Amino acid sequence: MLHVLNHPLITHKLTQMRNKETGTKDFRQNLDEVAGLMAYEISRDLPLKEVEIETPMGPCQTYELAKSVVLIPILRAGLGMVDGILDLIPTAKVGHVGLYRDEETFQPHEYYAKFPKSMKDSVVMVLDPMLATGGSASATISLLKERGCKSIKLVCLVGAPEGVKRVEDDHPDVDIYLASLDEKLNEVGYIVPGLGDAGDRIFGTK
Ligand code: PRP
Ligand code: URA
Repeated sequence: MLHVLNHPLITHKLTQMRNKETGTKDFRQNLDEVAGLMAYEISRDLPLKEVEIETPMGPCQTYELAKSVVLIPILRAGLGMVDGILDLIPTAKVGHVGLYRDEETFQPHEYYAKFPKSMKDSVVMVLDPMLATGGSASATISLLKERGCKSIKLVCLVGAPEGVKRVEDDHPDVDIYLASLDEKLNEVGYIVPGLGDAGDRIFGTK
């Protein structure tokens, strides 16, 4: 299911990121902050389990998170979302998937994958600012399912309708979270109006 997170702070910060005058430092900082705000919204439905602890005043029946959380940034651009989410969920483990998109065919090519040992029973959040054709996100989710992951959330900032449809068709069990559903893809596979090339803007490589 698609969830578009229309929180005013998320929208405001995304506007800063879309602006072509925004430089690397501010782009990175806004991405970090938006990722944290999105994580706060997305974590609303994390399962809890009942526990008994001792406060300084005596016993207390209360709750704590029932499942561990694993973050899977898609390299490179997904790296820009990791720290903002770790600020909220500091116990999360982090795996990495390296994919690049062929500039002509838009097909994703895997060049790296490293996962925490056990993540089958974790809540797994796949991170990538851009959901364009959906090829990279769909391939990453397939890799995670091959490793037994059952609870997977896809967290992107900007999505195109084409990418949302691709992930919904390939993985109907995965919740998709966006800060904005944009208009379309252009002829070279970029999201319009989008924010340009997220990896280049985060790392200052163009
Ligand atoms: C970008 C982006 C996504 C992918 C989205 O990465 O960060 O991973 O494209 O496109 P898709 O939905 O059509 O697959 P890119 O391949 O440019 O690599 P980079 O992050 O290393 O710059
Ligand atoms: N990757 C990006 O970084 N931006 C887009 O608009 C599409 C793919």
